[in-house]
Amino acid sequence: MKKCFIISNWKLNGDLVFLKKNINIIKKEFNFSLKFCDLAIAPPYVYLHTMYNYIKNTSIHLAAQNVDIHTQGAFTGEISVSMLKDVGVKYVIIGHSERKLFHNENYDNISTKFVLIKNFNLIPILCIGETEEEKKQNKTEKICVNQINYILKTQGVEILNNAIIAYEPIWAIGSGKVADANEVQKVHSFIRKYIASINQKVATNIILQYGGSVNNNNINNFLDKKDINGFLIGKASLTTENFISLVKKAEKKMSLLNRF
Ligand code: PGA
Repeated sequence: MKKCFIISNWKLNGDLVFLKKNINIIKKEFNFSLKFCDLAIAPPYVYLHTMYNYIKNTSIHLAAQNVDIHTQGAFTGEISVSMLKDVGVKYVIIGHSERKLFHNENYDNISTKFVLIKNFNLIPILCIGETEEEKKQNKTEKICVNQINYILKTQGVEILNNAIIAYEPIWAIGSGKVADANEVQKVHSFIRKYIASINQKVATNIILQYGGSVNNNNINNFLDKKDINGFLIGKASLTTENFISLVKKAEKKMSLLNRF
């Protein structure tokens, strides 16, 4: 069955009032009623546990936006993977371009985080993608492979079992410039083939999400693409009504696709 995994990434947005209102509406609409879509929400760290209490007996999952490379100790301001697990987190986003840009996150750190998350039996969502300049120079595929290889160079490809890769062209994130769905499909297909060249089973099972200015108006362009298995959505997920409508579109399209 073809499914669609949608993650709402709140980034540095929201408060307790929004959280309560948003999650109550989402629960009312979708709790256990979605057959073809899975949902997760990634609020800021401070709201994770509150969110968990709202969704713990539902079909909605909890995601974190980041994690530290250390497991404990004198690292003021950081949050460990065991803490995330402790408060009910299932998925952890790593390598987001905003972390690379504003927090000097590098691939050694991202690779360490990936392995740590797996060691704690949580699911990493590895963000990869090229800059506008790199796209102009036709380097998209090379950049994606390099970013994946950073994880693979210290680990076997099996580390990608039960993991998610989110292809997020940096120029499309938060910019309103959505990538062409056919081009995204090509990149996703390339990524899957690359992984398949090492291990076919891992490639078949891996979830490949797209992220970058996905919204209620453009989601339909992506839904029937073979290698797009879901979305990482920022801005458009902050308006509850839009988010609901977007998820409904995904559910409807997936149910049609699964008939054939
Ligand atoms: P956006 O963010 O939907 O606001 O472009 C996507 C992301 O950063 O994951």
